[in-house]
Parts: sequence; structure tokens; C-alpha cells
Amino acid sequence: MELFGPPTILIVDDDRSNLESLSRVFHRENHKVLTAEDGAQALEVVRNERVHIVLTDLMMPGMNGVDLLRSVKAIAPESDVILMTAYGTVETAVEAMKEGAYDFVTKPFKRVEIVKCVRRALEKQTLVFENRALREELGRVRKERRIIGSSPALRRTFEMLEQVAPSSATVLLLGDSGTGKELFARALHEMSPRANRPFVAVNCAALPESILESELFGYEEGAFTGARRRKQGRFELAHTGTLLLDEIAEMSPATQVKLLRVLQEGEFERLGGTRVVQVDVRIVAASNRALRQEVKAGRFREDLFYRLDVISIRLPPLSERREDIPLLAQHFLQRYAAKNGKTIRGIAREAMDRMQDYSWPGNVRELENTIERAVVLVRGDVVTEEDLPESIRGSVHDRRSLTVPLGATLEEIELRLIHETLRLTKGDKRLAAQLLGTSTRTIYRKLEQEAQRDLPGRAVESGGEE
Ligand SMILES: Nc1ncnc2c1ncn2[C@@H]1O[C@H](COP(=O)(O)OP(=O)(O)OP(=O)(O)O)[C@@H](O)[C@H]1O
Ligand SMILES: [Mg+2]
Repeated sequence: MELFGPPTILIVDDDRSNLESLSRVFHRENHKVLTAEDGAQALEVVRNERVHIVLTDLMMPGMNGVDLLRSVKAIAPESDVILMTAYGTVETAVEAMKEGAYDFVTKPFKRVEIVKCVRRALEKQTLVFENRALREELGRVRKERRIIGSSPALRRTFEMLEQVAPSSATVLLLGDSGTGKELFARALHEMSPRANRPFVAVNCAALPESILESELFGYEEGAFTGARRRKQGRFELAHTGTLLLDEIAEMSPATQVKLLRVLQEGEFERLGGTRVVQVDVRIVAASNRALRQEVKAGRFREDLFYRLDVISIRLPPLSERREDIPLLAQHFLQRYAAKNGKTIRGIAREAMDRMQDYSWPGNVRELENTIERAVVLVRGDVVTEEDLPESIRGSVHDRRSLTVPLGATLEEIELRLIHETLRLTKGDKRLAAQLLGTSTRTIYRKLEQEAQRDLPGRAVESGGEE
């Protein structure tokens, strides 16, 4: 429980004079003080307000202090309960401690004693809160780091993701199959202020039209045969969080219309219902088809396209960032070796060369599957060419050509050219410099600059924390 503003203390006692004197004490401590004369009243308060500390008398008519403690713990487990007991009821107080009371004080007590006790409880709460925040932060960083790769193309994509994460703007993720759209959608959510709210994904291609609609928007009781009771849709489930609409190009025209309305007005009705449901959901849409072309072909609504295309991020295919292959291969090798209980030292040079030459139409997913298969097949402790599928073993990429995506910066192209040339010369920088018509010093300097720029943790690389 975070302590923004003054801590709130609820004092419960059937003895009015006690109630008044304790109120004065905690007013002087700058606490927000609430009072109740019995357990029922106290519970009303706890239900409606965030109360940090409940300071209650043990012996009260009606609901006693221990009953109140139990109820408070059920309604607001983060509140701490301190009991005030008369001499002779200490046994009961000890029982109460077992039930989760924070502490007890024995009457008659001194003012400082009770003030100290409350202060300790508040300090503990702050600590618990800070620890939780830290843990959540750590989890976020870990998840972020699951995105592996240090190529300029991937880094640029990741930077864009970081930039848009804080807002609630709609994001469109475009990229071929297996390029990491879902991974990036999750990372976006985890880097956003909605990280601790739900992340809900719907695959629009996997569900028939009628089911997709009821999944998205939910339905009222009796909306159709079999709708026995009201069901919330994914939009509602994702409220205050993020909704991933995967394979959005496969959505039927009728569903597209309904989606458009939610995007425009933030509201919809459940199937078979008339009540308008309002939601606050961040939409991430993903597709492996060029949506703009789908619009031209009349298969996707233009108005919906523009609603979704607020910020579009294109995930580069693996063949445009071959530099990432060794890193990714290593990452998957560690993951699958651990999963299969094998000790594998690494990947042989030739095997890595074949993988770097291959075109990877299935992108990262194909690479992942390839490594998993190799880990299962490998005999020794090194993955060799033998362990790769035929298609990859036979691949001899024309090492003399380089495909560059439009939109890449000159700096990036230059670096890729340097890396590819170095691959060709098997790391010989002098020879590479000759081929590129420049000096070895220039090559060193460019690589140095690149390494420097990568330093601040952005070399989104695995820490091997699988
Ligand atoms: N940069 C990356 N680092 C680590 N793992 C990755 C990376 N990119 C993709 N992967 C992994 O590759 C697999 C495929 O990624 P994902 O499912 O996100 O792709 P996709 O673009 O949604 O594919 P599809 O269009 O076929 O649904 C997943 O196991 C994912 O974890
Ligand atoms: Mg996917």
C-alpha cells in the first residue's frame, strides 16, 4: 500500500472518551483520523476508504476486535490491525496475533508506546510497497531483455517501441510470419504504464466470424442458443490494459465495422444486449500481410486501417539482419539445451555459416525450431552441420549481394556493408578495408563507434536468465 499523502488510521472503540483522546494523539501526528464506535461501523469505513492502520479495542459489544480483525483482513489484506487489550485478555490478543494482527498494546498504555507501534507498522508497509515495486521493475527488465538482437534494424525497432510505450496510442505491428510480432506486442505492454494491468490477445484468424464477435464483445444471457449466462468479451477483460488483435487482416467486414466503432467511441454493446459498455483499452494490431494492399484490394476497410495505423512498426525479416543470427542461435541453444537436459558447448563454425547464409522465410520462429531440432539430434556436445535440416545445410547464399530495406539510414547501411564484408573475409579487417576501398583505421573506428553506441544496455541481449 503506497503512502501518498498522510497515512489513514481508523480508531475503533466503544468508549467515546478513549476515541477522542486517541484521535487527538494521531491528529497531532498528522495522520488522517477516522473513528468508529463498533465493528460494523468500522467495516463500513474499511470498505469505502484505503485505511493503513486499524487501531481497535478488543472488547466491544457486538463484533469484538478479533472478529473485526478477520473481516478487515478479508476486505483489505494490506491494512494492519493493532489491538488494544485490557490486562487479563492478553491471551486473546496472542490468538489475534496468530490471525494476522500486526501487534497489540496493553491498557493502560502510554501515548508514545502506541504512537511508536503505529509508526513501525507504517514503516513496514512502505518497505513492502517499495519491495514490490522493485520486484515488478525487475520483472519488466527481464522480460524486455528477452528480445534478442543487436542489429541496427532491430535496435531501431526496439527504440520505437520504447518511445511509444508510455502512451496509449494504437500501435500496428507489421512483419512477416515469425518476425516477433507477438513478442514485441507483449514487450510494448510490459514497458507501458499498463504493465500491471491485463494483456489479452485474440487471434482473429483462428476463430470463425460469429465466435470472434462473441469473444471480442461478449454476450448477454440468451443472446443465442447456448448463451446461458452473460459473458464478458476480451475488450472488457482487457479494460485498463492492452488488447492484441493478432492477424487483423483476417477479420470479417462485419466485425471490422464493430471494431471501428470501439476505436472511435471506446464503447460497444455485448451481443444480444442494449446496454452500452465503455472500456479503456490500448489496442495493438498485428498482421503479416501488407494491410495497405489489403485496403487497395477492398478486403480491409480504409477507415479502420487509418484508425489502426496511428503508429506502425515494421519488424524486419531475419534476412535483413543476419548479424542477429549468432546471438539468437546462442539464445535458443541455451534455452533448449536446458529444457532437454543436455550440455552443449556451442555451434560449430560451419553450421553457423550455413545458418547465416540461409534465407529464413520463417524468420525467428524457423531459427528457433531449427535449433530445438538440432539440440534434440546432436550426438556430441557441439551442434554441427549434420544436425541442421537439408534445406539449411544446402544453402549457399550469394555472399556478394546485400539487400537493404528502404528507410535504413546511410550509417546503418555502411555498418551492414562492413559486417557482411568482414564475414566474407572471415574477420580479416585489412582485407575488408581493401575490398571496401577504405583504410583499416576507418573500419576500426566505425566498429568502435557502433560498440560505444550499443553500450547503455540497449544491446538487447540475453542475460541467459531462462
Ligand atoms: N528478437 C527476438 N528475440 C528472441 N526471440 C524472438 C525474437 N523474435 C522472435 N522471437 C521468438 O520467435 C518466435 C516467433 O515470434 P512471434 O510469435 O512473436 O512471431 P509473429 O511475428 O507473431 O509470427 P506469426 O506472424 O507467425 O504469428 C517466438 O517464440 C518468439 O519468442
Ligand atoms: Mg503471431
